[in-house]
Amino acid sequence: MRDTVETVSNRSGNTPFADIVQARISRRSVLVGGLATAAAVFAGTGTGVAHAATRGLVAPPAPRHRPGGSTRVRFTSIPLQAGPMPTVAPEYEMAVILPWREMLDGSGRSFDYDGFTAEQQEHSIGIGHDGMWYFGDHRAGVLCLNHEFGTNEHVFGAPVPGSLAQVRLSQAAHGVTVVAIGRGGDTWRVLRSRRNRRITANTPVAFAGPAATSDLLRTRAGGSPAGTLNNCAHGVTPWGTYLTCEENFNGYFGTGGTWTPNPLQQRYGFTAGGFGYGWHLYDPRFDLASADHANEENRFGWVVEIDPFRSDAPVKRTALGRFKHEGATVVEGSGGRIVVYMGDDERFEYIYKYVSRGNWRMMRARGIHPLDDGTLYVARFDADGTGRWLELSPRNPALAGWEMDAILVNTRAAADAAGATPMDRPEWIAVAPDRSVYCTLTNNTRRTVPDAANPLAPNPDGHIIRWVDSERFTGTEFRWDIFAIARDVTDAGGQMFGSPDGIWADPDGRVFVQTDGAQPGGNNDQMLVADPRTGEFRRLFTGVPGCEVTGLAVTPDRRTMFVNVQHPGDGDPARTNFPAEYTGAAGPVPRDATVVITHRRRHVVGS
Ligand code: FEO
Ligand code: CA
Ligand code: CA
Ligand code: CA
Repeated sequence: MRDTVETVSNRSGNTPFADIVQARISRRSVLVGGLATAAAVFAGTGTGVAHAATRGLVAPPAPRHRPGGSTRVRFTSIPLQAGPMPTVAPEYEMAVILPWREMLDGSGRSFDYDGFTAEQQEHSIGIGHDGMWYFGDHRAGVLCLNHEFGTNEHVFGAPVPGSLAQVRLSQAAHGVTVVAIGRGGDTWRVLRSRRNRRITANTPVAFAGPAATSDLLRTRAGGSPAGTLNNCAHGVTPWGTYLTCEENFNGYFGTGGTWTPNPLQQRYGFTAGGFGYGWHLYDPRFDLASADHANEENRFGWVVEIDPFRSDAPVKRTALGRFKHEGATVVEGSGGRIVVYMGDDERFEYIYKYVSRGNWRMMRARGIHPLDDGTLYVARFDADGTGRWLELSPRNPALAGWEMDAILVNTRAAADAAGATPMDRPEWIAVAPDRSVYCTLTNNTRRTVPDAANPLAPNPDGHIIRWVDSERFTGTEFRWDIFAIARDVTDAGGQMFGSPDGIWADPDGRVFVQTDGAQPGGNNDQMLVADPRTGEFRRLFTGVPGCEVTGLAVTPDRRTMFVNVQHPGDGDPARTNFPAEYTGAAGPVPRDATVVITHRRRHVVGS
């Protein structure tokens, strides 16, 4: 999400570290050390860690972790940039594909901006490129691509919709694209395929899991539930499906009618004005005062499963809870159980994980979906470097008397009651081959009281926290440290980055970090690669003015990396006309697009 959402919805007053004034971990002690030890404590021996890690970690279709792989980062770090086009390290080259409005028929053509319709949008690449994953080999496959958001000004050139047709266009620009792509020579392109489809704010969806039949998800208007919204980051399951995560869904609802928010709506930040999309002006489904559509808002804020190779309706997995889901990082834990790590991206919100009840293969063999039957937890970070996963179920005495469906729909309030630690905006989560789990905490200008896990107040540049869970991801205890404080990571030019958001650990253990927010010197957002053994960061890629760099997918050989440039120029052609220079198609507004990064000598990207 463009970093302008100013909401704070958590008024629970959870202050587990009220007595801690100084951070336990000094800001220079970032990087390396602490967690290698922590992993050894949990696993018994260091060698056991490495072995278990390689065996346990995800999962086809993700690339496999390489035991003992080198985390060295050798490419030439490039300077920060403010220019109108992206830059990449000199050892690399880039191409641009999948710009907003490109047709899904493989023709390579795009619909015109002028006169663009909802129906055209339903057959072309959406806007607001964000999390994504690639299911294929080094030549061809299916890409699932999230479309987080596009402002009305960018999508149809006016701040407020003037017709239902404009609302439908905006709704169709959101959601997900499933698209077959392939490499021809040195470039990638859309392939004509029956897999190609758009999922939008109006696509029929299904609910599954413990809250699926809850009254809280039922509306008087009836009808089947529809749509997915503000699709931010993602996850990939070992059974080959894609998870898309609904983040700032509250902003699409609003009303001009008589309405006061109930406590549930308040806890999720619903307001009469929303983020200004004005969908409610022509579509009562998004009108908070519509009695027929009461509870419609509870149908958003979920993790949604999509099969890239089938045309089934997307399924909202209620066992993973309802909040502003940034991402859903899946790993196989002890006993073959599925573990999903999830951040709730708002100031003072929480980090969650889900653990399936059993071995995912056995559950599937018995006809039980591994994401429908398990336990949801929320994290408490203690000042001594340990932490606890607090169960979110009526079995937790703090939640005695709660119904399970209420916990899953009002997960934030349940986490308040459980005593979770309010964090500085949890964004993406990555799992490394040594079983370290990294979470970006992008920034929090509203923090006034530091605590051990969020040691800066205010925290305008963000930091990255890291932990190792007991029992190979599935346990309720963890040890944590701070991997990096953004303002302390420097090179010869000074501070390297701010507002970390996207994060991914490659199978060797290198840590890729993408940014969304103010960068040093007012420069463009960027992507860096860190060697966790030395703590060194190098800058691989810089974006364009106004954009966010987000989304990261690789081919299994990691010789091709896909990265997204989201909201280039914030839609303003005076700032950049990206990607006109690459696609040869200048237009009246810049277009969100995917950048393909390859090493000139075909090395693993980032090495
Ligand atoms: Fe969609 Fe929190 O970024
Ligand atoms: Ca964004
Ligand atoms: Ca993000
Ligand atoms: Ca962000």
